[in-house]
Amino acid sequence: MRKLGRNEPCWCGSGKKYKHCHLAFDSKLEGYFYQGAEVPPREIIKNQEQIDKIKESAKINIAVLDYVAEHIHAGVSTAEIDKWVYDVTTKMGGIPAPLNYQGFPKSVCTSINNVVCHGIPSPDEIVKDGDIINVDASTILNGYFSDSSRMFCIGDVSPEKKRLVEVTKQSLQVGLEQVKPWGFLGDMGQAVNDFAMENGYSVVREIGGHGIGLEFHEEPWVSYVSKRGTEMMMVPGMIFTIEPMINMGKADVFTDEKNGWTVYTSDGKPSAQWEIQVLVTEDGYEIISY
Ligand code: MF3
Ligand code: CO
Repeated sequence: MRKLGRNEPCWCGSGKKYKHCHLAFDSKLEGYFYQGAEVPPREIIKNQEQIDKIKESAKINIAVLDYVAEHIHAGVSTAEIDKWVYDVTTKMGGIPAPLNYQGFPKSVCTSINNVVCHGIPSPDEIVKDGDIINVDASTILNGYFSDSSRMFCIGDVSPEKKRLVEVTKQSLQVGLEQVKPWGFLGDMGQAVNDFAMENGYSVVREIGGHGIGLEFHEEPWVSYVSKRGTEMMMVPGMIFTIEPMINMGKADVFTDEKNGWTVYTSDGKPSAQWEIQVLVTEDGYEIISY
């Protein structure tokens, strides 16, 4: 990495002189790097202007999920949910990020019961009383990305499934408590994992969260089966998702060979997921999308 002069413009694009911007940050990071920490690359550290634009994108993502929350009910097809997402997003000036992403055919992922993630909306799939469903929305606005998902309990859901949904939601809060600068992503990952295990559940290993903002999926990959003190260091200006997939039964999953996307639990038991998009701040975190 080229050393900048104190009076040169900062690499982050803020327009400020390096000495008034990321100089102290870089020195600190360099120290941790020489102690063996995995430190983030500059490309994923956002400046204030980028953060503001990502937040504008997130306003649409939140509005989309609020709309789904108000309208979802037994009898609706997942294709109708997909249309709501497309319509709300585009009316607000955004683009649904999943649409045509690596060949994904729809605007949102809808994952019911034993579907872990990446369920593809279909007119033939009807949401039923007693189902739990994850609706995972992602938005592009002016080239900036947001991503979050929520679970919905449809009608009369069994206490076992309700508890899975609730514990998974609580696990985000447990993880968030570990998000602060100069800690490690593994601190968050282990907290989520311990909490899921204490509640008798398992956490999916193969699929995780990700950096996001300037791209849909950026470094780092975020695991929820990681260990305290490991993985990438969290620093101010980093934005990533917390989106654990928690299974009622075993952790094993498989991907549908026919469509190449949909992930199921191997034992057929239910799985739940909530996703938030989080910014690491100077003294902790800020939730960008939920
Ligand atoms: N929102 C999902 C995520 O958290 C997106 C999966 S890619 C898609 O990364 F194409 F299926 F949308
Ligand atoms: Co995500």
